[in-house]
Amino acid sequence: MDAPTKPKVLIVYFTFSKQTERVADVIGETLEARGAEVTKARIMLTDKRWAARFEKIPMRFPMIKIVGMLPAQTRQATGEIGVPPAAQDGDYDLVFIGSPTWWFRVSLPIRTWLKSDHAAKILAGKPFGAFSTSRRYWTHNVGEVEAFGKDAGGIWIDQTHFVAQGNQVQSMMSWLSYMSGFTWVDRLFRLPPTNLKPGFETQARDYANEVADRALPGRLTAAVETPASVEAPAAVETPAS
Ligand SMILES: Cc1cc2nc3c(=O)[nH]c(=O)nc-3n(C[C@H](O)[C@H](O)[C@H](O)COP(=O)(O)O)c2cc1C
Repeated sequence: MDAPTKPKVLIVYFTFSKQTERVADVIGETLEARGAEVTKARIMLTDKRWAARFEKIPMRFPMIKIVGMLPAQTRQATGEIGVPPAAQDGDYDLVFIGSPTWWFRVSLPIRTWLKSDHAAKILAGKPFGAFSTSRRYWTHNVGEVEAFGKDAGGIWIDQTHFVAQGNQVQSMMSWLSYMSGFTWVDRLFRLPPTNLKPGFETQARDYANEVADRALPGRLTAAVETPASVEAPAAVETPAS
């Protein structure tokens, strides 16, 4: 008797500072452990108008480069992207789409992929979910992934979103100091760390399991429990000054 074929899962994402990629890795590992065949496909921004500003971190003059993306994001521009073969075509059973928030919206490279023929081929009639990483704002980002993915023929399952610690001002200062390499600002103002919160892995695993159980009922082995000891480290108390 033939062995049952493994469900095929595709994770398409864009990342610059690697936060979305960290989530993609956890989703992939979670579903591989349950017997899925997982393919990760990182979309690259190759468009000459914008690519150079995303070459490295720390960035020089991050405010100028980040604000420079505002017009393109506001008019929902698309551009030239690099698409790995796995995200050009293929017969997947479930697709996850990950994007950082850029000026409240889905990032330009993922918008471009979602509106491409590649996405139409991959998503037609297939279940999909979205995950976002951001300093704070995520609603329009995942809302756009849902809408564009449905336009491409996909069947929406669910989203999850990861935000950084701190209030609006703290998270902005902490993120800008990280992007510019001026991390002494964090110490000076006792800012919370930027990027994914400790313990984000638990949220990513729960989300992957929930979406897979809804989209692929009975096709994967049971979710693997993770011992509490390797979950989120306990919050570090800051001594009162
Ligand atoms: C051009 C640009 C615009 C951004 N705009 C927003 C925003 O409007 N809201 C927000 O919460 N975060 C914003 N961010 C922060 C990113 O969403 C956040 O750092 C994200 O985790 C980066 O993901 P990545 O490491 O996968 O690139 C912006 C980042 C960039 C580079």
